[in-house]
Amino acid sequence: MRVGLMAAALLIAHASAGAQGLSGVTFTKDIAPILQRSCQNCHRPNSVAPMSLMTYEEVRPFARAIRQQTALRQMPPWYIEKAIGIQAFLDDPSLSDEEIAAIAAWVDAGAPEGPATDLPPARSFPDTRSFSLTATLGPPDLVVSSPEVLVKAGVPDWWGAIGEAPSGLTEDRYIKAVEHLEVNDVPVQASSASIGGRFLFHHAAVNFVQPDGTLDGGTFQALPVHEVGRNADLFDPAAGRLIRAGALLSFANIHLHANDRDSKARLDVALWFHPRGYRPAYDVRPLTWGQNEIDLDGNTADQVVEAFYTLQQPIKLLNYEPHMHAAGVRMCLEAIWGPVRQMLNCAGYNHNWVRAYTYHPDSAPLLPAGTILRIVGYNDTTAKNPNVLDPRNWSGWGHRSVDNMLNNLAYAAFLTPEQFETEVAARREKIRRGEAEAVGCLTCGVQRPPQSAGR
Ligand code: HEC
Repeated sequence: MRVGLMAAALLIAHASAGAQGLSGVTFTKDIAPILQRSCQNCHRPNSVAPMSLMTYEEVRPFARAIRQQTALRQMPPWYIEKAIGIQAFLDDPSLSDEEIAAIAAWVDAGAPEGPATDLPPARSFPDTRSFSLTATLGPPDLVVSSPEVLVKAGVPDWWGAIGEAPSGLTEDRYIKAVEHLEVNDVPVQASSASIGGRFLFHHAAVNFVQPDGTLDGGTFQALPVHEVGRNADLFDPAAGRLIRAGALLSFANIHLHANDRDSKARLDVALWFHPRGYRPAYDVRPLTWGQNEIDLDGNTADQVVEAFYTLQQPIKLLNYEPHMHAAGVRMCLEAIWGPVRQMLNCAGYNHNWVRAYTYHPDSAPLLPAGTILRIVGYNDTTAKNPNVLDPRNWSGWGHRSVDNMLNNLAYAAFLTPEQFETEVAARREKIRRGEAEAVGCLTCGVQRPPQSAGR
């Protein structure tokens, strides 16, 4: 019944979008601004994507493909499901339903160009392969390059340490944002089929260490794990991360994956700092959990794997980062607290595009001690999932992409009871004023914790 009503509402929305306004859609007025905001960072000469989408002439031959890829929400690569859960994230390039409808209407009308006077000024990019966060934060404060690696054509996957690089820092600083960028000699056109063949670093965990080898930054030395296709990280403003004077960046845990040619690559790590004197309000640490017992049949869709985690302390959950492997197609995150049960988010999963979703500070889930967090992964080992190389076989847990995983690679601010109450009170007020989403604040609707569920 409910589903039927929603479908009807969507149909009405589409019909009215078609009837009003959308008939006169042109490239210069309506489409170019969308491409500038959500596509050109990748779709420009010598960036990661196979074709440039900077001008009408470049875009026109791809009009149909653009309609298809945007309608399926495959492009831009951002897979948070819009119909359920929290929607406010930082650095979100995804298109609204209206924008997707506008693209479809434009293609259906023959992809008209429109008057040149409507065209917004071209967006400028500092250089060919640059950090995407430069657009919002300006150039990074520090860029540290890893040692260069040479990966011979067709060699097996390799895991290990590739060495260290000095940060050159002469004072302690708190990090506001980080972005990893692989710089390699693989031609863009050599790999148009998938982002996976374009890059050699399939993952990289970078630690900060002191020159004497001791780990740096207390409990919190590591940056979020970089993975192929991964986007940048903006940290919660109250939760900057420390890098100490004299720190070395240790490229200690690297996964290299060969392509079909001898290739050289290095990883550039860009850091943006908080102003001097900044102090983080919260104790931020990784909150990662998952399931290492995975047993998937061949040739079967909708295979579900779950993992649970019980909070000992209240938290503000800072991000959602579904991590699965080739068979993974979707992961959901649910919070359960006594009788309160909320689906926080569901996201599609494509192992070529491992994405991290950072909650907006006003939408980050506020979860009391005792909350049970549940992740549910959906796996598809049929030939319909192009990332599965051999649909015939059983597969279990493991490190290679052809083995399976299920993790949420999250970070949380671990709060004192007082900090938690202050956050909840502020959130409640924002929800009341319509400035924040209600979902994710488990205790916002309740004045007192429920009776023990185990009564
Ligand atoms: C983060 C980088 C990135 C962003 C942002 C991005 N793309 Fe892509 N796009 C790629 C890459 C890389 C490919 C090649 C296929 C793959 O690896 O998934 C691709 C493939 C495509 C294709 C398929 C090309 C073909 O040959 O059929 C289309 C169409 C497309 N993108 C359109 C868009 C549009 C439209 C947007 C913005 C609304 C966008 N992309 C945003 C990186 C990106």
